[in-house]
Amino acid sequence: MKLGIYQFDPEWGKKKHNLARIEEKLTNEDNVDLWILPELCTTGYQFTSQQELNKLAEKFPAGFTSNHLQNLSSYIKAGIIIGAAEKTEHGIYNSAAIYENGEYKGIYRKLHLYYEENKYFTPGEASPSVFEIKGVKVGVMICFDWIFPETARTLALKGAQLIAHPANLVLPYCPHAMLIRSIENKVFTATANRIGEEDRTGERLQFIGNSQITDVQGKRLGKLSRNEENILIVDINPEKALDKSINQYNDLLGDRRSKFYYNE
Ligand code: ACM
Repeated sequence: MKLGIYQFDPEWGKKKHNLARIEEKLTNEDNVDLWILPELCTTGYQFTSQQELNKLAEKFPAGFTSNHLQNLSSYIKAGIIIGAAEKTEHGIYNSAAIYENGEYKGIYRKLHLYYEENKYFTPGEASPSVFEIKGVKVGVMICFDWIFPETARTLALKGAQLIAHPANLVLPYCPHAMLIRSIENKVFTATANRIGEEDRTGERLQFIGNSQITDVQGKRLGKLSRNEENILIVDINPEKALDKSINQYNDLLGDRRSKFYYNE
């Protein structure tokens, strides 16, 4: 499976412009099976009021942004996983929408909101899901979900071979932590982060780039730098994530002693 990440600096509030940039990049590359794009990468990240976010958020799969991405995934015959602000009757979610070859496959709503996201977004209320894309089981989590190992573990237990991870990282630790998420779950991971900065609330946030793809043994298969706007394309063998054995006596998921683990 050929994975593609587009790391860029979205312009706040300019959805059409950001979508046009995404379209230009994705249509320029042949043979990518699955594209992973950053968190909230059509709207931008920082909001100063609920009204501001309400104006930019859209319904999925009904809205303009979703239709555009669905058509794009059909045109390039690929999967697309992209972070977006999702409007619903119950609130606005920090979500990731999933498409494959012109089909809308579903949505993941971020469980663990970071910092001031808590002011305007509603946290997801559903267990993270695994989506089949090009025959591969792909789990989805968003940015700060990384610091809760339960998120990646839940996806691995549901059969994820790859964890797609749209992000707007500001803390420096995540790229290291994702190596561990790979090892402890024997999964591939693809973190698609943004670059640039936003200073709309009086507090400047600098996004750390460093998008990366890791293999099932915690090795980086590819990485972008902190400030470069670029694409990263890596070929993975997802079958490697199906074998959870560590040696002849140990199996990563089979050896769990879940009855002894703390369960609230
Ligand atoms: C984050 O969750 N956007 C840091």
